[in-house]
Amino acid sequence: MSAVSRLLFVASEAYPLIKTGGLADVAGSLPEVLRQGGLDVRLLLPAYADVLQRLEAAPEVLAELDLAGQSARILECRLPGTPLRTWLLEHPVFSERVGNPYHDADGAPWSDNAERFLLLSRAAAHISTCDTALGWRPDILHCNDWHSGPAIALTHLARQRPRTVFTIHNLAHMGIFDRQVFERLELPAQLWQEQGLEFYGQCSFIKGGLVFADEITTVSPTYAREICASPGGMGLEGLLSQRRDHLLGILNGIDSQTWNPASDPHLVQTYDADSVQRKALSKSALQQQLGLQPREDCPLLGFVGRLVEQKGLELVLPVIGQLLDGPAQIVVLGRGEPRYEAALQALAAQRPDALSVLLAYDETLAHRIEAAADIFLMPSLFEPCGLNQLYSLRYGTLPVVRAVGGLVDTVVDASEQTLAAGTATGFVFAAPQADDFLHAGRRAIAAWHDRPVWQAMQRTAMAEDFSWQRSAERYLELYRSATD
Ligand code: ADP
Ligand code: GLC
Repeated sequence: MSAVSRLLFVASEAYPLIKTGGLADVAGSLPEVLRQGGLDVRLLLPAYADVLQRLEAAPEVLAELDLAGQSARILECRLPGTPLRTWLLEHPVFSERVGNPYHDADGAPWSDNAERFLLLSRAAAHISTCDTALGWRPDILHCNDWHSGPAIALTHLARQRPRTVFTIHNLAHMGIFDRQVFERLELPAQLWQEQGLEFYGQCSFIKGGLVFADEITTVSPTYAREICASPGGMGLEGLLSQRRDHLLGILNGIDSQTWNPASDPHLVQTYDADSVQRKALSKSALQQQLGLQPREDCPLLGFVGRLVEQKGLELVLPVIGQLLDGPAQIVVLGRGEPRYEAALQALAAQRPDALSVLLAYDETLAHRIEAAADIFLMPSLFEPCGLNQLYSLRYGTLPVVRAVGGLVDTVVDASEQTLAAGTATGFVFAAPQADDFLHAGRRAIAAWHDRPVWQAMQRTAMAEDFSWQRSAERYLELYRSATD
């Protein structure tokens, strides 16, 4: 077995430098855990304006790269709070644009996203296959989601190349562009085919990873199965089933320092499994902060996430009133589609003492809701892994989830058997119907009133170990097998 030593990990976001969702959480923790496991790791990210602003010290200029006629620089910094060597790809398309990495302030994708993420991909492929001033080439190139899919395709066209791994965090985002864009990008013509980037007459960046990568992973075992069939495969199920022998589901871990109720600096009151009753202090502080009634006699239900179809808003909206009549209180934190934002705001205006809707992206509030809420709502239509339910389990905030993807792999439904066996950690429902969600929500509210049952479930949930160690081992094994 050849020893793997150098890993280039490419992502479009990484916490704490830039984050819109769970990909940032993964890219902000997995590479560092792999480094601690003995690999020589570089994390490659675009040098967005927001990233450059957030750096604690001026980055070092390492190299200037010529990427198909475009000049870009590699800057080096350390991922804040870690020694991880992080390479930032500096080019005006990234560094001269403030705000969200993918879209403008109105939510419209940046019109040059194909050029921007092809540049990221070209940089990754160039570093992986050419001698550069960096003096470093990886043994493994590990790309994530559509933004770096073409890096894998381009790497595979080179004579000498590292082994490649591609991780699907969300198949719903495929990086689809018109054929004219493909031509304008001057991508190699041989990539315009079914066993290439072509997808029903358009160009799909994610296919670069799916067709060419030596090994494909996704972020839970159940999602790995779901995407090999319709509807989970979203049109790519044929390709993914063909590649089944090289497709592995590895459950995401969580950063157990950032998300630790015993030491979380965002909380007004820290706690652990032995002092879980102190959650009540977080709850009353949040009720006060949000202008909710200071009630102790009913549960507080929390929702944190992108307000998009994937997250099951269609199931939540019609039954919010019935859940509140439980009685219960609800707090929602998220940004997303205007139709969902408006519907939630209208509901909050009707029930201001019981429903608080915060249309914001706010890390501190996300932590405070995890600590203050009794029950966490995550009725996703599909969920490749999901991190919020894992944070909820750790915070003793029992989740109500739909039986899909990583949710069903991580939450154990409270049934007579699982309660008797002491394994229950949440409330799982199957059909994507508002009534089924409501029923699960009501089961959770009823269980909350049964203190001994609830506390036993909290203890079980908080004792679960979702730290990165086990998952990182799986990636290390995969890298080793890929380089055998
Ligand atoms: P996804 O990646 O599909 O959005 P995950 O559950 O994997 O879903 O990860 C979402 C991450 O983004 C979590 O860390 C969650 O706390 C965070 N997050 C989502 N929306 C917000 C928000 N409005 N404010 C703060 N954090 C948020
Ligand atoms: C995606 C998925 C989410 C997953 C995250 C990190 O955004 O929607 O389920 O947890 O990536 O892998």
